[in-house]
Amino acid sequence: MTKSSSSPMGSNAALDARPAEPPATRLKHRHLLGIADLTPEEIVLILDTAEAMQEIAHRPIKKVPTLRGRTVVNLFFEPSTRTRTSFEVAEKRLSADTLNVAIATSSVVKGETLVDTALNLEAMSPDMIVLRHASSGACHLLARVCRSKIINAGDGMHEHPTQALLDAFTIRRHKGRLSGIKVAILGDLLHSRVLRSNVLLLTKLGAEVWLCGPPTLVPTGIERLGVKVTHVVDDAVRDADVIMMLRIQLERMQGAFFPSLREYFNVFGMTEDRVSLARPDVIIMHPGPMNRGVEIASEVADGPYSVILEQVANGVAVRMAVLYLLAGGAEHETAA
Ligand code: CP
Repeated sequence: MTKSSSSPMGSNAALDARPAEPPATRLKHRHLLGIADLTPEEIVLILDTAEAMQEIAHRPIKKVPTLRGRTVVNLFFEPSTRTRTSFEVAEKRLSADTLNVAIATSSVVKGETLVDTALNLEAMSPDMIVLRHASSGACHLLARVCRSKIINAGDGMHEHPTQALLDAFTIRRHKGRLSGIKVAILGDLLHSRVLRSNVLLLTKLGAEVWLCGPPTLVPTGIERLGVKVTHVVDDAVRDADVIMMLRIQLERMQGAFFPSLREYFNVFGMTEDRVSLARPDVIIMHPGPMNRGVEIASEVADGPYSVILEQVANGVAVRMAVLYLLAGGAEHETAA
């Protein structure tokens, strides 16, 4: 498989407003810990590579030998449906050997630490570890002590970089670009790693980002990242190209952040009436899992503007791109 030099969607338009930089051909860092570490050119490289990977999904035989002989460990300390399964599908499509560690039946329940667990798995010579963990910074910790390449599949309230990459991929497929589009992100902003990764990515690529939620669920000082903040849903969604809803994360809340779920839906829930304020070709996104009737009405989640299941499908191509590029991309294939 060779890296695509440009995407069918004319991806480099996202960088039009920036001084000319040579296109990236490889990732500088050996791990993917967060969007914070990626340059705009590296983000475009991942999205372009994902376009090439997407083609594999349409072939009768959806498997290429690119990562044959490589071993990837999926180490998920928190529940996951989409991220874990799409990493596994991505690894299998690239012919990597995949090892899924079931935390509930591992020695973690006997008190083994994250580092000891990882080092013991490393004794079996994996090449990469895909880690989801409840603690912010867990991936950075493993990157310091492990020989394997670490991919962040969501760490606490910090980052979820592959989610933001698949979101950007989905937006670019619909809008043809990221620069200059209005993206409204609404919901529980305070507890969301998806929010942090998306804000970093979208602002790096020149999107206009609006954030909306109750004052109790907006991180202090988030404006410093170059976003607009409002507590009025209509202001956030008016003329938006993209509406991205975020889950109310009750499991991370200690105390009352709003009076009731019904009240939250009445004031901040995404309804068809509110969607009608956005641009006629708006797309509705949600990383999942959704709380129907809390942050989003079912008519919107299942409606004609929703690309929520498309996001899930795109997650496979984007994660294939990340695995491929971290393995060395075209250089790895030459050496093989
Ligand atoms: N979007 C996301 O991270 O979903 P999962 O928790 O199901 O992986």
